[in-house]
Amino acid sequence: MSFSSRVRDYQDRIEHALAAWLPESSVIPETLHNAMRYAVLGGGKRIRPVLVYAAGEAFAVPLAVLDAPACAVEMIHAYSLIHDDLPAMDNDDLRRGKPTCHRAFDEATAILAGDALQALAFAALAGDPALSVDPKVRVRMIHTLALASGSLGMAGGQAIDLAAVGRDLTVAQLENMHVHKTGALIRASVQLGALCHGGLTDSEFVHLSRYAHCIGLAFQIKDDILDVEVDTATLGKPQGSDAAQNKPTYPKLLGLDGAKHAAQRMHDEALAELSGFGPAADGLRWIADYIISRGN
Ligand code: IPE
Ligand code: IPE
Ligand code: MG
Ligand code: MG
Ligand code: MG
Repeated sequence: MSFSSRVRDYQDRIEHALAAWLPESSVIPETLHNAMRYAVLGGGKRIRPVLVYAAGEAFAVPLAVLDAPACAVEMIHAYSLIHDDLPAMDNDDLRRGKPTCHRAFDEATAILAGDALQALAFAALAGDPALSVDPKVRVRMIHTLALASGSLGMAGGQAIDLAAVGRDLTVAQLENMHVHKTGALIRASVQLGALCHGGLTDSEFVHLSRYAHCIGLAFQIKDDILDVEVDTATLGKPQGSDAAQNKPTYPKLLGLDGAKHAAQRMHDEALAELSGFGPAADGLRWIADYIISRGN
């Protein structure tokens, strides 16, 4: 089976797993649950869950074991998108081809939906009976996701992003912002999938973490490029949002060609980190290619 068709299987799988974790819209408070389901289900590329599955499958971990970590990273991601789109942050009206959560509902509901999704992510990771890992490993996974989500990870990166509006950053500062706001959760996705393998060595963990660091940075550089190059309908979010808000981005700092070279360099470094892994890691190689060639 080609990896692209396996990705479609992963995407179907995560859709069902997420739908099962999210409380039904009929459960009180209905509007909050409706908003959570609206923001999570039926959209998005699911790249972070796909990374959990691909990292786990590199060590033949059963997919059922990987479902809860895959759901957890997507719930954190969906929460980060809901808050990212709020008027106090990027003030965007379109996400995944539909009105943003605060537009479809209201700001208070969107804030709470994000809060609740973050909590649900940790409930899934802490409580899923199918996640048959040693309890110490489970705690390590929870710790990994918490650090990646908080002020030293994604939330910190978002704070750096907001503080940088209208300022000229150096390439090193821009890289640091991207590594936090987007890279941290992508790195955690790979780490969580790999940690489900009981026999994971320290060396394997280090190489996979470096691979993930590189593709995480490449992912946000590509996101910046798409914001310039691709139309709103294809993106499913407003083209030109970064320029409209004077955000520091790779294309702004290095030009489009410079940004594309930077993404390619990160891709190549990512693949080099996988040189010691056999064909079971081909899914991770495929994802590195996909990240820099994707059209949305
Ligand atoms: C968008 O992430 C926000 C970034 C961190 C760049 P994705 O491009 O993964 O968004 P979805 O999940 O596919 O909508
Ligand atoms: C968002 O970065 C990163 C997070 C949500 C943590 P962007 O602001 O560039 O993402 P988009 O372009 O709105 O998806
Ligand atoms: Mg943003
Ligand atoms: Mg944004
Ligand atoms: Mg963007």
